[in-house]
Amino acid sequence: MKRNIVLSGFMGTGKSTVGKALAQRLGWGFVDTDEQIELLSGMKISKIFSEFGEDVFRRFETLIVFNVSRLSNYVISVGGGTLINPYNREILSKNSLIITFMAQPEVIYSRVCSNRDRPLLNLGREDLILERIRDLLEKRMKYYSMSDFILDTSFKEIFELVDEIIDQI
Ligand code: S3P
Repeated sequence: MKRNIVLSGFMGTGKSTVGKALAQRLGWGFVDTDEQIELLSGMKISKIFSEFGEDVFRRFETLIVFNVSRLSNYVISVGGGTLINPYNREILSKNSLIITFMAQPEVIYSRVCSNRDRPLLNLGREDLILERIRDLLEKRMKYYSMSDFILDTSFKEIFELVDEIIDQI
């Protein structure tokens, strides 16, 4: 068995919430790469995007991916765009089982609406968000499908998802 579990997948699919519950069930540690980026940079993710742009954010992300890839017995929740970079994918898959969470665009929309700190969905116009989610999901599908397995989290409780993951590992 690999040393860690990485939870990947689009914003609002439940990576952090399920990740914490899974780590607790396994008696493992939990780390969220976005939180680590905020700690390292001393800035909110949205601030990094607005002040320095996405490229700088992606550099922080790769640095943190390198650090967390050396952990053992951790559930690692990564950002929705982390696995698009082949270097991040390669380094994480060495020691970690990679699980991707999927959800229907409408479900993602309703979940992200309650948390506004998502620069890629901050379009200034509410009516464009769902379209943007569909578009990004389609573009990212080929990267998300390169994981060990995919789970649809649309209509499932946290404990059901934790059980399903434990059954599969
Ligand atoms: C991003 C997802 C976010 C965060 C950043 C970029 C993306 O993380 O890393 O805003 O590219 O999909 P969550 O998926 O945890 O919201």
